[in-house]
Amino acid sequence: MSQVQDHNDATRALELVAFLIDPDSRDLVQSLVFDLELKNAVVRQGSVDDALDFIKTLPSWPHQLLLDIADSPLPLSDMKRVADIAEPSTRIIVVGDRNDVGLFRDLIQLGVADYLVKPFTQAMLRRSLNFGALASETPRPPRAGKIIAVVGSRGGVGTTTVACGLAWQLAHGHSRRTVVLDLDVYNGAVNLVFNLPPSQGLVTALQNIAGLDHAALEKVLTLKGPRLFTLTADIDPKAADPLTPDTLNELLAALVDHFHYVVLDVPTRSGDILNTLMDRSDYVVLVADPTILAVRNVARISRTRDTANTTQRTVLVINNLAPKTPETLTTGAMEAALGRGIDHTLPYTIGLTKSQNLGRPQEFLPAAYGKAVLEIATDITGGGAKQEEQPGSVWKRMFSN
Ligand SMILES: Nc1ncnc2c1ncn2[C@@H]1O[C@H](COP(=O)(O)OP(=O)(O)OP(=O)(O)O)[C@@H](O)[C@H]1O
Ligand SMILES: [Mg+2]
Repeated sequence: MSQVQDHNDATRALELVAFLIDPDSRDLVQSLVFDLELKNAVVRQGSVDDALDFIKTLPSWPHQLLLDIADSPLPLSDMKRVADIAEPSTRIIVVGDRNDVGLFRDLIQLGVADYLVKPFTQAMLRRSLNFGALASETPRPPRAGKIIAVVGSRGGVGTTTVACGLAWQLAHGHSRRTVVLDLDVYNGAVNLVFNLPPSQGLVTALQNIAGLDHAALEKVLTLKGPRLFTLTADIDPKAADPLTPDTLNELLAALVDHFHYVVLDVPTRSGDILNTLMDRSDYVVLVADPTILAVRNVARISRTRDTANTTQRTVLVINNLAPKTPETLTTGAMEAALGRGIDHTLPYTIGLTKSQNLGRPQEFLPAAYGKAVLEIATDITGGGAKQEEQPGSVWKRMFSN
C-alpha cells in the first residue's frame, strides 16, 4: 500500500519525509521526487501520527517534512505538537483540504513554512518545497531555537544549579530539545551536576566551527536524556581560553538550528565575551541572592541590558542560598531598591548541595526548588505543550521517558 523510496544511510538526515492521507496526493509527491531525482526522500501514505512514528526510527529529523492534516480533527494542536518537538531546522510544509485563511495564518504562526490546499499541482508543490540552490537562499526558519543566558550577580550565587535545573525542566517538563553550554571552560560544573564524565566537546566544536553540521554536533555533545544534552570543556588552567566573541557567535548560530533552547551557564567574567553572550540571548536569567551586594550588581547588569537587544527579556530570580533570618532582605525591599519586580524566588533547599555532589538532579528537582525552576521554564516557553497535550497523543507516546 505504500510506495516508498528509501535511501536512508545511517547518519545523513533525509532530504524529505512526506506522509499523505490519500493515494492521489502521495502519487503526485512521489512523481515530483522522481522528476527531481531525489535519492534521499521517503514518501508514504499516512497521517501525521504515522509520520511521527516513522521519524522516531530515524537518527535525525529530515530537512523537510510534508504532512497531511486532512483527516485531523484538531489540525492546529497536532501541528503545534509537531512544531514543538521538531528540530528547528526542519522545514514543515502542510497540506489539507480546508481553504481557510485563518488556518493558514495560524499554521504560519506556528512556524510552518507553507500550507497547500488539495488538490495541489506539482508546480505548487515544487514552489513550496525547497531543494538544491533554492534551499541555500532561504532565510533561517522562524522556528530557530532560543538562547537563555543564566548569569549570576556574583560567583557562587547558584547560577550553575539554576542553568542545569532550567535545562532539565525544559527537556523533561516541557519536552523541548535543550542543550546546556558550560562556558566555564576551566572549572565548569555542568557535567558534574548531571553525573556525566568530563568532555572536551566544546573545544572540538570551537576548532571545527565551520563544519558544525548535525553529524559533527552529535559527536561533541554529551547526552543526558532523550532531549537533554551538554556541551562542555575541561581544559588545563594554563591553556589559552578557546572562546572568542566570533567563535561563540558561530557556535550559537549552529546550536539554535538544532535545539529549541540553548541554556548558557555563564561564569563570572566580563568584557567582550560577556557582551557577546548577553547581546545574542533571547532571555537573560539573572540569579541573585537577597543581599545589598546583589542589588548593586543586578542594577549594574540591568543598566547595560536596557540599551541592548530590545526584544530580549530579563528574568530576575532571587535564590535563597541560606535559610531566611530577620536580616534577609525582603522581596519588597529588593524590588523597591531595584525599581523592578522579582520574577521568581527559589527556596533555600537542604540537601541540594549533597544531591548536586552526587550528580543526582532528579533528587532536588521534584521538590520545592524544582517546582520553582519549572515555573521559570513555563514562563519562558509561554505555557508549554505539556498542559495542552491530549491524552494518548503520538507526541506523548514518542517522547515520554
Ligand atoms: N537554593 C539553594 N539552597 C541551598 N543551596 C543552594 C541553593 N542554590 C545553590 N545552592 C548551593 O550553592 C552552591 C553554589 O551553587 P552553584 O555552583 O550553582 O553556584 P555558581 O553561581 O554556579 O558558582 P560558581 O561561581 O562557582 O560557578 C552549591 O553547593 C549549591 O548546591
Ligand atoms: Mg557555576
